[in-house]
Amino acid sequence: MNITVHHLTHHFGSGAARREVLSDLSLHIARGEMVALIGASGAGKSTLLRHLAGLLPADTGEVCIGGRRVQHNGRLARDIRSVRSGMAIIFQQFNLVSRLTVHTNVLAGLLSRRPWWRTWFFIFPRADHHAATVALERVGLGDRAAQRASTLSGGQQQRAAIARALVQGAGLVLGDEPIASLDPRSARRVMEHLARINREDGVTCLISLHQFDYALDFCPRTIALAGGRIVYDGPTAALSPSQLSEIYGGTPAVTPKTAQPAPAPASAPAEALPLPS
Ligand SMILES: Nc1ncnc2c1ncn2[C@@H]1O[C@H](COP(=O)(O)OP(=O)(O)OP(=O)(O)O)[C@@H](O)[C@H]1O
Ligand SMILES: [Mg+2]
Repeated sequence: MNITVHHLTHHFGSGAARREVLSDLSLHIARGEMVALIGASGAGKSTLLRHLAGLLPADTGEVCIGGRRVQHNGRLARDIRSVRSGMAIIFQQFNLVSRLTVHTNVLAGLLSRRPWWRTWFFIFPRADHHAATVALERVGLGDRAAQRASTLSGGQQQRAAIARALVQGAGLVLGDEPIASLDPRSARRVMEHLARINREDGVTCLISLHQFDYALDFCPRTIALAGGRIVYDGPTAALSPSQLSEIYGGTPAVTPKTAQPAPAPASAPAEALPLPS
């Protein structure tokens, strides 16, 4: 699924406390792209992702996902639940229902696509159970299906959330710092699985990351935000240390492994995203 954002503007607060957190922001991500979203704390990454997912209406502007309108000038689309059924959102934590088994959590990806009475009683046809089993195997959790979600490690929980996105048939994954609370090995593994569903299933991924190294290794394109505006949109490998330093307000969280002497200017936007209702 592609993502198109036109002139998105959003503020929080009123009076003296009024603060614009997204300013006339436009972008395009093509179907099948894997894009990193970076920026200092408070830059507006989570706010942008929430707008893309239709969890928050903006003041003005428009968001379309896969050619369907998510919101327009402060109004969420009437069929927002249906639009969301094509997207998956993976947060830093709390992606799973902790008391349910891993298998049931993955099946939950089908909740919006099955009749209510089935989902009410968690009665799914055999084919759905098979799809959940296959998805868990793909993310290396085939042997964890019967385990309670709360007993999984953080990295395993994120991989289970990826399996759920697969079962859901999501065309877009929005990740809001999905690896921020993981150790480096688990973080890398989660990114590898995201990159794999991007490559093998054509799932568009937009992932906010604090660790730039992961953007460099897994995301060909990076969009950087500062103060609610896009300050860089182009090849990840072309971001220079000085650009990174500027993006992070003079104190880069990381330096690129391969410093590029000739950074690309803010490029034309490319195109691509999924979400539970
Ligand atoms: N509900 C809210 N009410 C008021 N201000 C908010 C609200 N949500 C976010 N903000 C403000 O909007 C700005 C952008 O916040 P956002 O959470 O999008 O930043 P971020 O880039 O995701 O930061 P981080 O890297 O710390 O997660 C911040 O200044 C934040 O304080
Ligand atoms: Mg955030």
